Amino acid sequence: MSFAGSDVISVADFSREQILHILAAAEKAERGQLPMFTSRKVMAVLFFEPSTRTRLSFESAMQRLGGTVIGFADASSTSTRKGESLFDTIRMVENYADVLVIRHPLEGSARLAAEAASPPVINGGDGANQHPTQTFLDLFAIRKTHPRFGAAGEPPLRIGFLGDLKYGRTVHSLSIALSHFPCELVFISPPSLALPRHIKEILTDRGVACVEGERVEQHIDSLDILYVVRLQKERFADQLEYERVRGAYVLQAGMLARVKPNLRILHPLPRVGEITTDVDRTPHAYYFAQAGLGVPVRQAILALVLGLV
Ligand code: CP
Repeated sequence: MSFAGSDVISVADFSREQILHILAAAEKAERGQLPMFTSRKVMAVLFFEPSTRTRLSFESAMQRLGGTVIGFADASSTSTRKGESLFDTIRMVENYADVLVIRHPLEGSARLAAEAASPPVINGGDGANQHPTQTFLDLFAIRKTHPRFGAAGEPPLRIGFLGDLKYGRTVHSLSIALSHFPCELVFISPPSLALPRHIKEILTDRGVACVEGERVEQHIDSLDILYVVRLQKERFADQLEYERVRGAYVLQAGMLARVKPNLRILHPLPRVGEITTDVDRTPHAYYFAQAGLGVPVRQAILALVLGLV
């Protein structure tokens, strides 16, 4: 199986076997078993939206593989300010780098970039659409916390999603990827922030058992994984609607009294109040460890698309 030269735009483009191949490469990265680049390789990071984890873990991953990094974290310092289009920006940057990582507020922007560029393009998040590399690290985290996940004969994991499921792109990507594995999905949100219909239809077509609810207390005791996402304030067209749902869900340590011992709470981060800090001190909190897995997973992705493995 070769990924050399491939783009990473949507998890919907990946089969179960390809996902497992990426996770196997991430395990090698973690053990320090990935080779280093023997020729100079350059990664361009083009971040038109704020990021801490995605950009820095990609940069760390590239440097650990022996590559170098160029790019920007603030598009206001680029010729975008003069009116240059995304297409033209990509056509320029492809001359400067061997792989491009892009984050952009517009859905479909990563696909557009991939059409414009010859080198591999990796989607670091396009609007409310997709965040595929986060999904690979989320799956890696699920395997770490539940090592028998996906193994033959194992009962399905019951995985809850809590929060802004409408705009939370990590939920969209992860739920689609999970359709390749035995699991039951529970979507918990205020009604106005429910999972988009087109994602539900994909899950239904793939035969995934799904439940929807509004109150986490009704479901939390049955879960193996609880995946929490923040309100995506920047994606609300109507700030009054944001104010209406702000604070609608807050996970606190006291709500974990009767949960399964092996419940693990994941969150792509940043959190902005939807998990109180007392949860951090429980054995269920896994979100900071999860973020750390971004480096080996992104090492694996870079090594694969650049033909290193
Ligand atoms: N999980 C994630 O995408 O975090 P950043 O926005 O900090 O990159």
